[in-house]
Amino acid sequence: MRLHDKSFVPYLSEAEIMTAVKQVANAIAQDYKNETPIFIGVLNGAFMFVADFLKAYQHPCEVSFIKLSSYQGLTSTGIVETLLDVPENLDGRSVIILEDIIDTGRTLQKLVHLFADKNVKEFKIATLFYKSSVYNGEYKVDYFGMEIPDRFIVGYGLDYNELGRNLKEVYQLKQPHMINLVLFGKPGAGKGTQAEFLKEKYNLKHISTGDVFRYNIKNNTALGTLAKSYIDKGDLVPDEVTIKMLQDEVEKNSEASGFIFDGFPRTTAQAEALDAFLATKDMKINATIALDANDEVLIQRLLERGKVSGRSDDQDENKIRNRFEEYNLKTAPLKDFYEAQGKFHSVNGIGAIDEITARLAKVIEEL
Ligand code: IMP
Ligand code: MG
Repeated sequence: MRLHDKSFVPYLSEAEIMTAVKQVANAIAQDYKNETPIFIGVLNGAFMFVADFLKAYQHPCEVSFIKLSSYQGLTSTGIVETLLDVPENLDGRSVIILEDIIDTGRTLQKLVHLFADKNVKEFKIATLFYKSSVYNGEYKVDYFGMEIPDRFIVGYGLDYNELGRNLKEVYQLKQPHMINLVLFGKPGAGKGTQAEFLKEKYNLKHISTGDVFRYNIKNNTALGTLAKSYIDKGDLVPDEVTIKMLQDEVEKNSEASGFIFDGFPRTTAQAEALDAFLATKDMKINATIALDANDEVLIQRLLERGKVSGRSDDQDENKIRNRFEEYNLKTAPLKDFYEAQGKFHSVNGIGAIDEITARLAKVIEEL
C-alpha cells in the first residue's frame, strides 16, 4: 500500500486493534466506573480510538477534545498553541487524556502543561499505542493498549502527511530494502532503454556486463588485462573473472538502493556464482524479469536500429535470428533456475516505452 512516496505493509488487523482498545477501556473502567471522568481526546489522530473506546466504555463519562497546532511547538511565551482549547470547569474532575500514540513524549509534555493551572482532582494519560522504547517523557503513561516497537505506523486515525487516517487496519512503514534485478530479453527487447528508466525511478545502479568488460579492458585494469588474455586466445572469460568485475561495480556503488544486472548471468552456472557472490554481501536477486516480444516485431526493430546505428549484426536478418536462437538455448535453463526460486517474471515488451516501464514497475512494487 502506498501513501505519498512511501510503502506500508499490514501490521495490525481490526481485531487486534479492538483488543487493544478494549484493554484500555477495561483498565480505566476498573479504576473509574464509580465516578464520572472526563475523557479528552487529542485531535486529529485519536478520533477513531476515542469513538471505539467510548463504545467499549459503557459507564458514566463525559468526552471532549483538544487540538494542538501540530509541529509549531512552543510559542515564544512557552505556551502551546491550541486550536481547540482545554475545556472549562475541570475543577475537581478526573481528567483522562486519550492519545492515539505516544512516541518520544514531546507532544505529551506540552499537553500536560496546558492542564497545569486547572484544579483537577486527578490527571491520567491513556494511549492506544505506546512506543515505550523511545519514550523519554517525565510523565507516567497510566494506560496503554499496546506497546509497539519504534516503527512508523499509519491507519486507524494515524497519518503519514495527513493520508491514511481512514484505514481500518494499522500498517507499518516498509523497511527500505535493496532491489536487485536481472533483466532478460532478446536483442531489441528494450533492456537498455528500460534499465535507464528503472535506475532513475528506484535509485538502482545498472550493471551492463558488456559495458563493464569494455571499461576494464579499455582502462587496462588488472581484471581487464586478465580478461583480455583469455579473449585474445579465443577462450571464454572464466566466470570468476566476470564475477570479480561485478563485485567491483557493486562495491563502487554502495549508496545504490540495488542493482540491475544486464547481460549476466547467461548460464545456470553463472546464476549460481552470482547467488554465491551476493550472499557474501548479504544481498540476493529479488527478481528476474524477462521482456517478452515477438521475434518478428524485434527483427523489424533491430533492422530499423541497424539502419541508424550501422551495427552490422543488426542489419542481417539471419544474424539476428541466430542471436535469438542462442538466447532461447541459454535463457531457457535460467528461466527454470529462477522459476524454481519463485523469482521469474515476464512482462509484455511490446507497446509504448512508458507502458512497458509501468508493467515493470508493477512487478517491482509487488516484490
Ligand atoms: P511524540 O511527541 O514523539 O510522542 O510524538 C507524538 C506525535 O507524533 C503523535 O501524536 C503523532 O501525531 C506523531 N507520531 C508519532 N509516531 C507516529 C507514528 O508511528 N505514526 C504516525 N504518527 C506518529
Ligand atoms: Mg497525535
